[in-house]
Amino acid sequence: MATITEIQHVRTIDHIIIKPQPSISKLREVATSIPVPIPSPQPTHKALTVNEHFQYELSDTATPSLGEHEVLLRTKVVGLAPIDWKTVQYKFCMPSFPWINGRECSAVVEQVGTAVKSVSKGQRVWTSTYYRDRRAGCFQELVVAPEHTVIPMPNSISFDDAASLGVCGLTAAMTMWKWFDVPMRRRRLTRSISIKDRRYALIWGGSTITGQYAIQIAVEAGYRVIAVASGRTRRRVSDLGAHHVIIRDGRTPADIADEIRSIGKDNIVLGIDLVGPQTATQGVSCLSKSHPARFAPLAVPAPPIAAPANVEIVNVEMKQFVLDRESRQYAVHLADLVGQGRVKAPKVIVLPGGLQEVEAGLTRIRTGDMGGSKLVVRI
Ligand SMILES: NC(=O)c1ccc[n+]([C@@H]2O[C@H](COP(=O)([O-])OP(=O)(O)OC[C@H]3O[C@@H](n4cnc5c(N)ncnc54)[C@H](OP(=O)(O)O)[C@@H]3O)[C@@H](O)[C@H]2O)c1
Repeated sequence: MATITEIQHVRTIDHIIIKPQPSISKLREVATSIPVPIPSPQPTHKALTVNEHFQYELSDTATPSLGEHEVLLRTKVVGLAPIDWKTVQYKFCMPSFPWINGRECSAVVEQVGTAVKSVSKGQRVWTSTYYRDRRAGCFQELVVAPEHTVIPMPNSISFDDAASLGVCGLTAAMTMWKWFDVPMRRRRLTRSISIKDRRYALIWGGSTITGQYAIQIAVEAGYRVIAVASGRTRRRVSDLGAHHVIIRDGRTPADIADEIRSIGKDNIVLGIDLVGPQTATQGVSCLSKSHPARFAPLAVPAPPIAAPANVEIVNVEMKQFVLDRESRQYAVHLADLVGQGRVKAPKVIVLPGGLQEVEAGLTRIRTGDMGGSKLVVRI
């Protein structure tokens, strides 16, 4: 077989260097003999994408490379939240197509960027992600997240339980600790607090997953909690520590609000609505008229609400968890409380079938009634 040296050897005639012209057939022979580096195929992984017609597709997607402060996660369990189906049904929060949704998961660290210090390969973690980064959508086998949003899982909790922390758990925690400025350290009620000095938190939608976390965090911080739920979830809500559970079945929001006011009087200083515009409006009407009070309308889409001067309507923006590195403290503290059993994760219903089960799961939470349980999918 000819080599390059054979073909390119030179003859010197009177100081003129002449290269012999190789024949076409010789060139072909050489061309096939030179080892051409074949680019290795870019690694891919499975993802559940949404196409421009707002339909789900299971496809292979390129596995992105990591920035120095980023972590690559191998998804173990994804949590399904109402925001996931609302995003597709109402066509928002998908900057381009095909898009990848999913905002919470538990995972194992697959790889870390060169500057990452807080987690290492093989560690069990959970995260809450921001919709603007397609690489961070949790409905895929490999997820890229910024280091400060990747939180180690306490040994005592399972991947299934940790999958509910990223959306509902963290929303409740940040609403209370960041936006309501409720103390993160434990403050139990004592007998020395007289009835007139009690401070109440109202959770309208006490059996919602977010409500279950919010009740426990408010109780931890020393508030008396009034929660609204149905008769069938009453027991669960009361077991989580709510001091008063108001049964909503067959009643109007205005009627329920009357009962709330009769309990909390002028001492309801915090309120969260997890249901919708009507209950949010009634919730605000239950708040104290003389103390400073705060109210968070968390149901999506958030309704516009009028409030008296002493009531601050807080705008809970969960993207702040990703945009503001300081917010990591709330996730770490939440995980600590869950690890210690001081805050309980909701009951989970596990779908074992992987990414292909996500769409059916989302339909189930949209149309069905989860009765206070959280739907998660093992990947
Ligand atoms: N802004 C954010 O960042 C954020 C984060 C998390 C959730 N959310 C929103 O919060 C809402 C709740 O979501 P989630 O995932 O926590 O809970 P969820 O699992 O969707 O809550 C379902 C439960 O709501 C209860 N419910 C239904 N109608 C009610 C009513 N009229 N009054 C009181 N409770 C009622 C039902 O329990 P009972 O029949 O037992 O009452 C039902 O089991 C959704 O709108 C979601 O999009 C927003």
